[in-house]
Amino acid sequence: VSTPKTRDTDADWRKIGDTEPHWGVITQPEFLSENLTEDNVAAFYASGVDFMAYTVQALRAVTDWPVWAASALDFGCGVGRLTEAMTAYADKVVGYDISPGMLAQARAHGAGKATYVDVLPDGPFDWINSYIVFQHIPPERGMELLRALLQRLKLGGLVSLQFTIYRDAIHTWVPTEGVVEDPRLTLPVGVVSMFDYDLGQLCEAFNRAGILRLVLEHEDQGGHHAVRIYGRKTT
Ligand SMILES: C[S@@+](CC[C@H](N)C(=O)[O-])C[C@H]1O[C@@H](n2cnc3c(N)ncnc32)[C@H](O)[C@@H]1O
Repeated sequence: VSTPKTRDTDADWRKIGDTEPHWGVITQPEFLSENLTEDNVAAFYASGVDFMAYTVQALRAVTDWPVWAASALDFGCGVGRLTEAMTAYADKVVGYDISPGMLAQARAHGAGKATYVDVLPDGPFDWINSYIVFQHIPPERGMELLRALLQRLKLGGLVSLQFTIYRDAIHTWVPTEGVVEDPRLTLPVGVVSMFDYDLGQLCEAFNRAGILRLVLEHEDQGGHHAVRIYGRKTT
């Protein structure tokens, strides 16, 4: 049996979406399906409102204008936690995800606030957001997806995108004798894996897409260090 060169993370997320969609987004016990009370669901979506309020404030570092988009995209929308919150800042918001279970939950909760799709829409968009998504996609594939997203950004459009770029030693895999394969390749389907991106490659993709001034914000995801990138397409 030949081992694939990269992990099929889409299969993981399809399974998580079918089994534990909310917990898959925020891995805290109150978001396991057995504990999903009305209050816990409300707290889950309220966290999205707070997060987007913070993001919109942070975007002021790249634009003087209050954030208002005619059309916005939430890449890897999950159950719509951030997508719904984005509707406070945009006329039309689309959430895209590859996990049918996640999309079903998003549609059921959203009451038509946003649209949810399983094919990457053409756009173009005035604002593209993604949070805690690329970190779960192998970078060879994630970089292609990033370039595809940036092609869909209008001149003057905004991005708020997050990537993991390094990790603490506790999360570092050290090859031992006889074990040559990245253990992420052989984990059972449905396990969440983390991947680090190369900041140089990220900057190149943004710069080549006309986003020349980048604002970077550090974030510690339990020893996986991420950068939130804010930018605006100016050329
Ligand atoms: C941790 S959840 C985050 C959901 C949402 N961004 C939030 O913060 O509430 C990660 C999401 O990314 C989605 N995802 C994983 N790989 C993807 C891909 N290649 N394209 C689009 N979405 C993907 C998963 O299905 C899952 O819904």
